[in-house]
Amino acid sequence: MGISTLKGRSLLSLRDVSAAEIAELLERAADLKERAGRGERVPVLAGRNIALIFLKPSCRTRVSFVVAATQSGAHPEIFGREDIRFGIKESVRDIARVFGRVFDGVMFRGFEHSTVAEFAEYAGVPVWNGLCDSYHPTQVLADLLTLRENFGDLEGLPVTYVGDGRNNTAVTLAVAAAKLGLDLRILAPEQLQPAPDRIAELLAEAESDRAAITVTADAGIALAGSAAVYGDVWVSMGEEEQTRERISLLRELKVTARLMASTGRADTVYLHCLPAFHGQDTETAITFPDICEVDDDVFEGPQSRVFDQSENRMHTAKALMQLTIAG
Ligand code: CP
Ligand code: NVA
Repeated sequence: MGISTLKGRSLLSLRDVSAAEIAELLERAADLKERAGRGERVPVLAGRNIALIFLKPSCRTRVSFVVAATQSGAHPEIFGREDIRFGIKESVRDIARVFGRVFDGVMFRGFEHSTVAEFAEYAGVPVWNGLCDSYHPTQVLADLLTLRENFGDLEGLPVTYVGDGRNNTAVTLAVAAAKLGLDLRILAPEQLQPAPDRIAELLAEAESDRAAITVTADAGIALAGSAAVYGDVWVSMGEEEQTRERISLLRELKVTARLMASTGRADTVYLHCLPAFHGQDTETAITFPDICEVDDDVFEGPQSRVFDQSENRMHTAKALMQLTIAG
């Protein structure tokens, strides 16, 4: 096994990597998952230091990178928005150069894509985008691993994303579809559909003839034959003031058992990047009683793979750090 082409590289978007490199990441993640299941550790990052920067809150990304780094032998250090005050006293590029001098890799969760891109340019060490307003590549690696576990080959696999079709997760699934040849359907009301030229731009980078991205408000078209129905929150972090409007735009697209059945397949799985509103009495759900992108019987039902997906964040984060730092 030679040195990976991923060594020394950042992952700001799945657009940065080839289909073969995504396959390598998934292969390594599956191998590491299997070895972790046997209690084996692969400490190829012993003595390394990893920074985790969170300008937005996180549960899964944080636990995944902390445990993945620790199990790989590295030390993870977490920085919140009070520690890193971009633009208040220091510029992005100055902080990036400080981090690049002392850390071996940086996970960065922030707002504009341009910030994480600038950070990576000046840090000079691998930087992994742990979610920005435009993309969520470390999430979609875990989604792809979960789809692979359930269906094997991803080429031509019909997957339906339901919800805000312009958000970071939806667009990253579209990048993955173009790269790997998924048959992605984005089911969203017109106001929340990605612009046609954005989709055309992604399809122009397609690496598979089978890549298809259909954007539609027609549930029948979006769901027919789908192997997976994928949900996300209706309101992404930073957009909270749009909550009422989003509820009125998306309430008809709540994922129910009936919607799941309309794929016409018995083996359709339900995926969600989490956190999810699924009928629990959380503080937000008490304030906005209609916020619920998936019924609890689907979320908790036999088709749901959401916690496999969540676990796969850790295995894919481990593969990503190991391959980009150690090769
Ligand atoms: N899916 C995901 O990124 O979750 P967190 O926001 O909790 O990290
Ligand atoms: N689209 C969501 C994803 C959360 C993991 C957000 O940006 O809040």
